[in-house]
Amino acid sequence: MEEISEVRSSHGRDLIRNARGESADLFAGTWNKVLRDFAKVSSLPGVGSPGETCLRAVAALMAPSLLVPEPVRVRPPWASAPQVSALRDEAKMMLRESGYINNNKMNSACGPVAERLAYAVDLAAYVAEVVGVKVKQPHAANYIGYWEAGQSLEIHLDSMKFSDINILLCVDRESSREGQGSSTVFVTPAGFKSEYCTPGEALIFDGTCLPHGRTPIGDGETVTLINFGFHAL
Ligand SMILES: [Fe+2]
Repeated sequence: MEEISEVRSSHGRDLIRNARGESADLFAGTWNKVLRDFAKVSSLPGVGSPGETCLRAVAALMAPSLLVPEPVRVRPPWASAPQVSALRDEAKMMLRESGYINNNKMNSACGPVAERLAYAVDLAAYVAEVVGVKVKQPHAANYIGYWEAGQSLEIHLDSMKFSDINILLCVDRESSREGQGSSTVFVTPAGFKSEYCTPGEALIFDGTCLPHGRTPIGDGETVTLINFGFHAL
């Protein structure tokens, strides 16, 4: 803790981004406790409420350190319908066979379909083209499944150890409430911003300094995603 507060207070915003290793986990973990105290994704606080005001204050504190000012929603040209179908099939197999529960959702490693995509497409160049930030090729990727009613992700910051920027691509969605189901939610200095993605749509965002989460899955709903993590150059 001492290390983190020293970094933040004495060196300013640039060193927030330089937290690595144990410091990166402490930085994210400390803020995540605070964020969870302010709000639950199952009942997000209303505009002007104490919880929402506090969350906006945290977002404002982090905003100067953002590499990507706000989440960008895209339909990547490399996420063609056949590519997304292949990723969906692999995600379902991997999550069923080797998935594990992590923070109220399923996670699994990726397989050859995702690996071939990462070799065939210059994903780092795509990030640079869309958000103007130079990144290394993705060093991590995983499948994420929200397959049971109530599964969700509380508002949090990612550890900088994991990535600086994410591409979160929706590869499958089943819903009886078309357009009104579970969404990715971000906290910005202006308030909550929800993004409802369908298969083939992706969000590019700075998960380390932009608080984010997912609202709960409803009955009969599933969402399956692949996340690519990038470190800035
Ligand atoms: Fe995250």
